[in-house]
This record gives sequence, C-alpha cells and structure tokens, in this order.
Amino acid sequence: MPLQEKMDTLRSRYAAAMKGGGQARIDKQHQGNKLTARERIAAFLDEGSFEEVDALAMNPFEGGERIPGDGVVTGFGRVDGRPVAIFAQDFTVVGGSLSLTHARKICKVMDMAMKVGCPVIGFNDSGGARIQEGVNSLAGYAEIFLRNTMASGVLPQISLIMGPCAGGAVYSPAITDFITMVRNTSYMFVTGPEVIKAVTHEDVTKEELGGASAHGFKSGVAHFLVPSDLAALAHTRELLSFLPSNNLGQAPRRASLMEMPLENPELDGIIPEDPSKPYDVRNLIKGIVDDAHFFEVMEAYAGNIVIGFSRMDGRSVGIIANQPAHLAGVLDIASSEKGARFVRFCDCFNIPLIVFEDVPGFLPGVHQEHGGLIKNGAKLLFAFCEATVPKLTVITRKAYGGAYIVMASKHIRADFNFAYPTAEIAVMGAEGAANVLYAKEISKAPNPAAKRNEIINEYNEKFANPYVAAGLGYVDEVIMPRETRKKLLRALNLLEGKRESMPPKKHGNIPL
Ligand code: HXC
Repeated sequence: MPLQEKMDTLRSRYAAAMKGGGQARIDKQHQGNKLTARERIAAFLDEGSFEEVDALAMNPFEGGERIPGDGVVTGFGRVDGRPVAIFAQDFTVVGGSLSLTHARKICKVMDMAMKVGCPVIGFNDSGGARIQEGVNSLAGYAEIFLRNTMASGVLPQISLIMGPCAGGAVYSPAITDFITMVRNTSYMFVTGPEVIKAVTHEDVTKEELGGASAHGFKSGVAHFLVPSDLAALAHTRELLSFLPSNNLGQAPRRASLMEMPLENPELDGIIPEDPSKPYDVRNLIKGIVDDAHFFEVMEAYAGNIVIGFSRMDGRSVGIIANQPAHLAGVLDIASSEKGARFVRFCDCFNIPLIVFEDVPGFLPGVHQEHGGLIKNGAKLLFAFCEATVPKLTVITRKAYGGAYIVMASKHIRADFNFAYPTAEIAVMGAEGAANVLYAKEISKAPNPAAKRNEIINEYNEKFANPYVAAGLGYVDEVIMPRETRKKLLRALNLLEGKRESMPPKKHGNIPL
C-alpha cells in the first residue's frame, strides 16, 4: 500500500472512531439533555490536554459489535494542571454496554494511574454488561472491581453517574470514593423496576427507585446531586482541587481570595444563650474557614452531621460537624456511617480533620438499636481512633456520653481539643442525671418539682461546663469563639510535620 494511502487509512479509522455510534444516536443523546462521552471529556479537562488511548480498540469476538472504541473513550488529561486518568462510557455505541474490550480499556488507564499516582475519574453512562458477550462482560466488570479495590486509599476515585447504571455496574462506582449523580438523567440500581415487580410485586419507577433524589436523600449512595452534565463536570473539578493526586502527596495549597481576620467577633454570637435552641453549624464553619467557603459532601443525607472540605490558610481540611439544626445534632445510624466514611477518606489522603462538636448523644430508640446503632456508631469511633492525620476538635456546646468520646476526643488521639465557654461535657444531661441519681430524693421532697429544678441547677453548675475537662487536661484550652480560626491555624501549622502510625497489621476490622 502506498504511504499516502496508509496515512489516509489511519485518518479514516480515527475519523470513524470519533463518530461513536453515529449522528442519529448523538442527536438522541442531546435530546435527552446529555452530552456525549467526548463532549464531557472536552468540557472536563484543561483545554487541549486530552491524550486518548485505545481509540481504535475493537471487539475481537466473532459476531460481536465491532465499533472502534467499543463504547468507551479512555485516556489521560489534566485538571488545573494536574494529571488524571479518565474513562467516559459512550452510550451511542451499543448503549455504552460493557464488553471485555471496553473493560480492558478502563483497566489499562487504571493501571497507568496506579503507576503514576493520579486520580481516576469515570463518567458512567451504560446499559450494563453487554448481553451478547455473556461471561466475558462479567469478567470485564470483575477486572474493574478488583482494580477499584486495589486503588482504594491509593488514588482518589470519582464516579459521575450521567445515564443508566444498572446491575453489577453500580458496584464499581460504589467502591470509589465519591459518586455524583445528574438529576433526571441518571439512575443506579442493582435490579430494575421490572424485576422488582416480578419478585416483590412493588410498583416503582426508575426515577423513584434509583434516581438522584433516591440516592442523595434516602440511600446515601450518592455524595453529590447536580442539575446537569456541565454542572457535574465543574463540580468534580472543584472536588479534585481539595484532594492530593495520591496517598503519598498533599492537596495543592491555594491562596484565599478573601482576607479572613484571625479573630471574628461575630462568632461569639452564634451559639444561642439557651442551650436547647438550635443553630446552623454551617454559619460557624463559614466564619472560620478561608473565603467562608464550605464544599459540602452528602448535603441531602443524614443532616444531623455535616461533612465537607474547606481550606485553612490555603490548606485543604476535612470538616465533620454535628448539626444542632437537625435532630439536635444527635448521632444515629445514618450520620455515624456518613461521618465514618468521610473521616477514613481524609485519613487515606492526608487531609487534616477539624471537628465541631455539639452532640446530645446517640439517638435512643428500638428502631435504632435493632438497626445496628451499636455497630454503626462504632464505625465512627473506629474511624476517628485509627485516623493519624492531624485531628482538631472544637466543642461548641454539648459533648455528652459516648458521643463525647467518639467525636475526636483527646482520649482517642486528637491533637488539639478546644472548648468554648458554652461547652457542656458530661456523662449525660442534667435532666437524665437527676432521674437516675436523685429519683428517690425528688419523690420524697415536699415539693418534688422545686427539688428537681434545684438538683438540675446544681448539676449544671457542677458538670455542664468545660472546666472539669480542662482541669483534667482533656480539653487543651477553653477559647472564645472569635479566636477559633487563629487557634486552628496555629495548631495546623504545628502539626504540619505530624508523624503518627498504626501498629503493623494486614488491616483493621472496622465493624461493617
Ligand atoms: C447490549 C445493549 C445493552 C446491553 C443497551 N443496549 N443495553 N446492548 N447489552 N446491556 C443497546 C440497545 O439494544 C440499543 O441498541 C442501544 O443500546 C440503546 O439502548 P436503548 O434501549 O434504545 O436505550 P434506552 O431506551 O435509553 O434504554 C436504556 C436502558 C436499556 C434502560 C439501559 O437499554 C436497558 O434496559 N438495557 C439493558 C440493561 C440491563 O439489563 N443490563 C444488564 C444488567 S446486568 P440499538 O442498536 O437498538 O440502538 C449486569 C450484570 C453485571 O450488568 C454484573 C457485574 C458483576
């Protein structure tokens, strides 16, 4: 073949690959308010940084679909100048379904990501296992799941759900660190509505079963809900800005845009005078962190704990805060699990933890106990105990019982524990203590109600303050709320070179 013809063959093969499943299917994708795989990659990566691999990969199996690229676009690019590995399933090619070739393309970029230490970002938009390929497509999924597991804690892995995600296909995203779902165009479920109808006779739509709201508000599977493909891409770029490229690195440091004073007198007025009144802990967080910016994670789920990323003097930090504005900030099954996974993520990736504590305890109730409050609460305890990144705790108000211990108390290796003058640190609240310790004394008193009040006041005076704990060194310093940023910054500076490790072991056995 003449040289020119060889060149033309190469060009025409690439041109065919760029068309995916063809214009009609691309139009259908657009009509469904979805971008194509290539459009998503182009909008996501730094301009011109995409280097594709395996654009010409094709299914080798007899009788199988033979479209260049085989339903997934893979390669490497940059986000804010830092390298990432990327795969984007192409729904226009056999519904983005996963063949062995498709799977191996994903595995190839994951393997390279492990060698060079860069995050893996997946855009999921697929009808699941390619039915015609039988066990080969299952083998392909298995190879991906194994790599997701090996990369866990080594590379940040982020899954964007931008279309259907059914069957075993949900398990790769589930193993990754963060799942972002696009409202109205994405869904995730293990078995779909038809199977559910046949097995349990329940009627449910795809959206109700596995849409963004279902997983953002109810199951807690999704970490972020966004309105469109473009919003998902911009949001993920920002998420990456808080993360290091791998477990051996640090998140990039970014100068703040706003001048944040070291002391903020407005914070002195956030905790209400009446200890039973709620307040939104986000207002406290925003008064302390750089640019008053809090990038919240799992905002729609278990609102009694608030988690997310911020920066302190340009450094990325993970924030875990009880939320008195929701269920009084109590710890329950959902909030414990939510908090635990976030603590472990930050610990994997060298992101210091800042805890704002205002927790009346664990939620009492038969439903909670029978649902496994013990093992789920223990997850949060375990996660805080094993975390070796810098851990800073600010007790703003209530720190009662086991919840006091769990929320990064001094006893479980927190580095600096601060308390506000409004802190109440005790085994239980005054009312409960009066009932347990003084029931007889109260009932025998000539005026039981007055006696009860007297005992409660005495108890509060004696125990519901930070000074007993400060006297014992369990709290390092009682501080004014206005000083919080200054105190945390100084602690973070000191802890920059912190070295702490776990005893050698294969791995711990977190109560799952
Ligand atoms: C082969 C598939 C496919 C699949 C879709 N297509 N899914 N081809 N294997 N799994 C093809 C369709 O035949 C169609 O081809 C094209 O992709 C677009 O699909 P449509 O059905 O026209 O699109 P839409 O109406 O938007 O519906 C999308 C869908 C539906 C909801 C995803 O296609 C669907 O239900 N697919 C099957 C889902 C499924 O059961 N997957 C297996 C799950 S089990 P043409 O040529 O007509 O355009 C699984 C096991 C994994 O994944 C286990 C791992 C451990």
